[in-house]
Amino acid sequence: MEAAYPSHDDILVLPHHEPAGAFGFLPCHSYLIKGREPILVDTGIITETESMVDAVRRQIDLEDLRWIFLTHEDLDHAGAVAPLMQAAPDARLVLSFLALSKGGAGEAGGLMDRLVIATPGQSLVAGDRRFGVIRPPVYDSSATVAFFDDETRTLFSADAFGGVVPRVATDIEELGTAYEEGCAMFTLANSVWIHDVDPARLARSIDVVRTLAPDTVLSAHAVPLRGRTAALCDQLQAMPAMPPAELPDNAAFQATVAQMKAAGGPPSEEPPA
Ligand SMILES: [Fe+2]
Ligand SMILES: [Fe+2]
Repeated sequence: MEAAYPSHDDILVLPHHEPAGAFGFLPCHSYLIKGREPILVDTGIITETESMVDAVRRQIDLEDLRWIFLTHEDLDHAGAVAPLMQAAPDARLVLSFLALSKGGAGEAGGLMDRLVIATPGQSLVAGDRRFGVIRPPVYDSSATVAFFDDETRTLFSADAFGGVVPRVATDIEELGTAYEEGCAMFTLANSVWIHDVDPARLARSIDVVRTLAPDTVLSAHAVPLRGRTAALCDQLQAMPAMPPAELPDNAAFQATVAQMKAAGGPPSEEPPA
């Protein structure tokens, strides 16, 4: 995990950039809302479990954490959910019913009385804040929910509006057009079905975000996106017309592995002599 930085007065970004080979990095961020009842949105990637727990502990006493909002069960979002639920005895876990069914609560699954089901189209109250729950317009798990914070007009959008980036950044100005390029690349691969749906139906899903009109979008996979919701929605709406994502096949993958070995990395899995 990298150094936390603020998105708003009371919302902190807990950032991590996962190396993504030739694509650069995939940001895998979580967010801590330090309100009257602290809320953690997503729990980081599974490879960063310990440092994720430490990152939250550096900001608040875990005994004070009241809510963990899980956008979906993927291992880049639910990484530290079980240890955090253990370390934060008064935290309730908010997730969709499908995420729960798919094991999103992980080893915290025995804590049934601490679970809250988030349903698209409904809202939930956490302390002194109200959150609207929506299904974001693009996603890679049908269990995904996004949360709209009324108070700061912030949409926690899960995978939507995220993307790979060529370098570690905390501000979109550091990325320039690389944000749009990486977002298209990621979205077309992560939501490959986008090419198969009726564009009018996709537009209606995007209109849910247009109507909410968040001032800020906080994707798990992007820097804070402020004051650009209309542009983000326009960009997303244009993606089905783009060429499908082309990901490395096995031959390309093996060639990359050979190149990395020749260059002295990655770490060998062979046992030490
Ligand atoms: Fe995902
Ligand atoms: Fe993700």
